[in-house]
Amino acid sequence: MIDLHQELARRLEDRSAVIGVVGLGYVGLPLAIRFADERYKVIGFDVDVEKVSALNAGASYIEHIGASQIQRLLAQGFEATTDFSAITQLDAIIICVPTPLNQYREPDLSFVVNTTESLLPYLKPGQLVSLESTTYPGTTDEELLPRLQSTGHVVGRDLFLVYSPEREDPGNKRFTTKSIPKVIGGCTPACLSVGMTMYSAVIDRVVPVSSTKAAELTKLLENIHRAVNIGLVNELKVVADRMGIDIHEVILAASTKPFGFTAYYPGPGLGGHCIPIDPFYLTWKAREFGINTRFIELAGEVNASMPRWVIGKVVHALNEREQSVKGSKILVLGIAYKKNVDDMRESPSVELIELLLSAGAHVDYSDPHVPCFPKMRRHQLDLSSVVLSPESVAAYDLVLVATDHDRFDFGMIEKSARLIVDTRGVYREPAAHIVKA
Ligand SMILES: NC(=O)c1ccc[n+]([C@@H]2O[C@H](COP(=O)([O-])OP(=O)(O)OC[C@H]3O[C@@H](n4cnc5c(N)ncnc54)[C@H](O)[C@@H]3O)[C@@H](O)[C@H]2O)c1
Repeated sequence: MIDLHQELARRLEDRSAVIGVVGLGYVGLPLAIRFADERYKVIGFDVDVEKVSALNAGASYIEHIGASQIQRLLAQGFEATTDFSAITQLDAIIICVPTPLNQYREPDLSFVVNTTESLLPYLKPGQLVSLESTTYPGTTDEELLPRLQSTGHVVGRDLFLVYSPEREDPGNKRFTTKSIPKVIGGCTPACLSVGMTMYSAVIDRVVPVSSTKAAELTKLLENIHRAVNIGLVNELKVVADRMGIDIHEVILAASTKPFGFTAYYPGPGLGGHCIPIDPFYLTWKAREFGINTRFIELAGEVNASMPRWVIGKVVHALNEREQSVKGSKILVLGIAYKKNVDDMRESPSVELIELLLSAGAHVDYSDPHVPCFPKMRRHQLDLSSVVLSPESVAAYDLVLVATDHDRFDFGMIEKSARLIVDTRGVYREPAAHIVKA
């Protein structure tokens, strides 16, 4: 009898294994490139026909991934498809689909579940399935394992199942998919072992943990740690502001402590696919165990209050000049959720724009990374990025710095703007026309 575990490990080691990546977004695409760079044949799956066509034509839809990288991927035999029957060609299937919250701020696992269901007709003995999407502890064991076993295959003997969270930080040039250590937990020792073999071929350091649940909670701990500390520093910003102290000066000074302090920076609110969302996956699951996650809820409350606090600063700044928000021309700088990226998911700038519009302001935005305001699940604004010049900046009553992209000429903006509200600590020196928020 063939030992499927050893056979799969051999194919992974000699690079004859074919790797499938399901969900070709910010996480899946760099991962597909990583495997292709290590000479694996990779097949990419997505339900988005436009993404599949773009990749097959050698084009990229993610700003920090160049077309040359996609062409390199294609040269390695990569193909993208919407056809899940190609799953039969694979040795390993890596799932990188979204895990958002629903309208009640509860986990929406529909993407993960639908993907898993789409795999089932095509699974065959000897395949490895790895879930990378961020999720609550228990997802792999409770949602994937029974579905995989329903095919009649035994996980740990016929099929292998692991959870290995992604730690992608788009736009961060200091770390690559290869150099970021990767945590992994398996459903059985054989699952873990074959998962380690796969990831060790493409990632410098793979960190095993005892279970898929431990791996799932590891990812949540990392993001909860950020959400809570950003909540703390946002709260301190409000206190410092009332006391007439510059929080950025304080953070810079505290950062000189060589141990026991990590700097987190305040801002106009949380953004991105991860930090505003992932902590609530744990909140939801913890309820099943009768536990309230109070730190997470409190940080969420503080962080969610930031856009309104910033708008309060805008109202006050205009008021000081005997102007009202209603009828004012306001330019929002930066609509991506963080600097130097084109990702607008959950961006606090969107809420700032909505609040300003509902108060009667005329709002424009400028963002070199987002030329047109994209279609979003909840928002549809017909706006495109204003080209910045001394004249265009001077035409606004107020400029609101929401994202501190390096491509903004902040010196020119400082000279040209009539009034600036700065939510990112860009302007350190006090000036009559600059309000810190
Ligand atoms: N973006 C990040 O920086 C980041 C970092 C770490 C972890 N994560 C996690 O990774 C997961 C994916 O995030 P992302 O940012 O890559 O999302 P994304 O929206 O950029 O990409 C997800 C892709 O999955 C596709 N998809 C949706 N349903 C599908 C299905 N049934 N079959 C095939 N494809 C499907 C979508 O069309 C999309 O292209 C999430 O769980 C997220 O929390 C994201």
